[in-house]
Amino acid sequence: CLTPALIPLYNVPDYIVVVIDIFRATSSISYGIENGAEAIIPVAEVEECAAYREKGVDYLLAAERNGEVVDGFDFGNSPFSYTKDKVAGKTIVLTTTNGTHALHLSRSAKKVVIGSFFNLRALCNWLKTQQQNILLVCSGWKNNFNLEDSLFAGAVVEQLKSEGFKLDDPAIAANDLYQLGKNDIGQYLSKTSHGERLKKLGIEKDIEFCLQIDLTTAIPVLEGERLVKLVK
Ligand code: MLT
Repeated sequence: CLTPALIPLYNVPDYIVVVIDIFRATSSISYGIENGAEAIIPVAEVEECAAYREKGVDYLLAAERNGEVVDGFDFGNSPFSYTKDKVAGKTIVLTTTNGTHALHLSRSAKKVVIGSFFNLRALCNWLKTQQQNILLVCSGWKNNFNLEDSLFAGAVVEQLKSEGFKLDDPAIAANDLYQLGKNDIGQYLSKTSHGERLKKLGIEKDIEFCLQIDLTTAIPVLEGERLVKLVK
């Protein structure tokens, strides 16, 4: 089966989990790993991230809350902070409002990978080769539904629905949403609450950037505590 979910309702160990946070955590993670970051260590809390400062290794520390960079950290969650010149060869410790929280809750899955519009095709091609149930974990906003993650889940369903997966009701709903928005995803998602939030912070260029399809091919996968590039 193939199902988009708010995580507490599903038995995570039964699935390959795709964590989705389009604005902006999983987009930035995909971009950073594509751009040669050695690893990204997702942590749920700001304090955990800060604690890496004491570990004596040359980590970059990234922390975002409510769309803003947390004071005292190297950067936050903007994809523009994850360019080659900034992240190649580096290990980044990252905490975000929702995305790293969803990752934390997904740790017991058979495998945890990262999905974004950037790596849509590469991700779906890989998922097609896996003989496993797939759970599309939409990070949402503070435990609530959001439109952009669900629409992306629908885009994944679109690419996998002819592959013999049984689609449950959330998968069908997400795919219907995708049909509504697919001709102009930017326009459709302009009504999202997080889009509004980012616009108020003056970072609407991040929204546009995160909606580029198939910009990258890397699939970040969780190995222990580190997200690294999946070796196919
Ligand atoms: C999150 O994890 O909640 C986000 O990616 C928020 C953001 O930085 O836009």
